[in-house]
Amino acid sequence: MRDFSNAYLEILKGELAGLNLTRILDGEEFYNKQIVDSLLPYEQSKFFKAKLDKVGLLVDVGFGGGFPLVPLAWKEPKYSFVGFEGKRKKADAVALICERLNLDNVRPMHQRLEDVLMDRDCIVTFKAVGKIKDLLAKLFVPRGTKVTVFFYKGPGLDQLEDLSRISDWKQISDEFFDVPGTEKRRLMGFENVPRGTYIPEGLKKNLVNASDFL
Ligand SMILES: C[S@@+](CC[C@H](N)C(=O)[O-])C[C@H]1O[C@@H](n2cnc3c(N)ncnc32)[C@H](O)[C@@H]1O
Repeated sequence: MRDFSNAYLEILKGELAGLNLTRILDGEEFYNKQIVDSLLPYEQSKFFKAKLDKVGLLVDVGFGGGFPLVPLAWKEPKYSFVGFEGKRKKADAVALICERLNLDNVRPMHQRLEDVLMDRDCIVTFKAVGKIKDLLAKLFVPRGTKVTVFFYKGPGLDQLEDLSRISDWKQISDEFFDVPGTEKRRLMGFENVPRGTYIPEGLKKNLVNASDFL
């Protein structure tokens, strides 16, 4: 894991220097705050790994400099990983990082969440992208498809977000983890209701299928 972290940081500081993909450029800090923080909730959660073992497909939205997308793809070479990132510059940079790290199970795409129909059973992750309620409202799932979402959050979630009246999704988990050198990490999971989620009529025909990216 240390070797993976060092190789990742070397690319960020070398070939991609100047892109500002992460502000954390110290080796130890990068290891804890980016690599361990991406992987530890996955490894220690009672739900996350078990769910991925079932579906074998994870979609990380808003991966920025590649987190948690790239460490998870490195950790689980037998599963498929897709990333959606709204900024092209970041998506292209992370595609290059994956190439340099020889990861062939991950596709970092330039794509906004709200333009996609999640037409495959999968896990979706969000780390530091936005508020739970807002993001769930932009996650479009058709009837009969099951999407499990995990939000990487901080300990102040209750003070910062309103989790009441979230429609079409039910909360399935709420776990806390100690990540060295960071504030406590909270991982909260949701699953869509079987009838699917509300998709505004005008949007339906313009959505692209997540399965097109596999
Ligand atoms: C603060 S960064 C977090 C990056 C990474 N997940 C991490 O934890 O280091 C949030 C990222 O989400 C992306 N983003 C925000 N809204 C998005 C959307 N609706 N669809 C795709 N990407 C989005 C932004 O472009 C930005 O790169």
